[in-house]
Amino acid sequence: MSAKSRTPLVAGNWKMNGSKAFIRGLLDDVQSELQPLALERCSVLVFPSYAYLYAVADQLRGSSIGVGAQDVDERPEGAVTGGVSAGMVRDLGCGFAIVGHSERRTLFGESDSTVAEKYDRCCEQNLTTIVCVGETLEEREAGQTLEVVHRQLKAVTDRVGVDFAGSMVAYEPVWAIGTGRSATPDQAEEVQASLRACLAEVDAGLAEATSILYGGSVTAENAQSLFEMNNIDGALVGGASLKADNFAKICEVAERVKR
Ligand code: 13P
Repeated sequence: MSAKSRTPLVAGNWKMNGSKAFIRGLLDDVQSELQPLALERCSVLVFPSYAYLYAVADQLRGSSIGVGAQDVDERPEGAVTGGVSAGMVRDLGCGFAIVGHSERRTLFGESDSTVAEKYDRCCEQNLTTIVCVGETLEEREAGQTLEVVHRQLKAVTDRVGVDFAGSMVAYEPVWAIGTGRSATPDQAEEVQASLRACLAEVDAGLAEATSILYGGSVTAENAQSLFEMNNIDGALVGGASLKADNFAKICEVAERVKR
């Protein structure tokens, strides 16, 4: 298997944005922007807030756009006020979940082992999981980037080994998220190649088959130069995914470049 045989994927992480009306309108617009593109290669996912997950999953039933949760609780069920389980996400008709986003790690103090537990809950519910990793600016400047992202990825792969197959990784440097300062294609490629090498230590076939996304200030303008890199299989898009035309453009670029 080569880079060409991995399915390119563009995912919109809508974070804690929108209202009922905004989300409905955004989804309508995304669907109508994507329709004429008739994407054949590129998969498209959206990750709304829990509050709108049911409505979005309902609106997307039968569509080729997948929907998932931005997080799941590390416990399967029970007395967890405010918690949402992987089973609930599955029950709503979602097939995907993100775990380990840097905003969860930073704002909610999630450790590598918590992220690994969340990953396990997703697997139990057959949710396709995107595991996010990424270094802070301080860590990058201290030359610790690869050490940090390997540690974050291994927290999951050391537990599950080849059963990681079917999951995805998103490299999101913390300093690039929401800052308008994307990693350069070369910076992202260096880290993503090393994440693939880390997967190859588990299994060569797993490394070849696993999609590794880049996230952090991806726009319609910089998507092409990022997607031209061998180890960038798609994008996890924040801000630019809240504008349907920008998001659709990024999908169109992925479809064209990742052939
Ligand atoms: P931005 O695209 O807004 O930088 O966000 C990236 C991100 O965190 C996606 O999960």
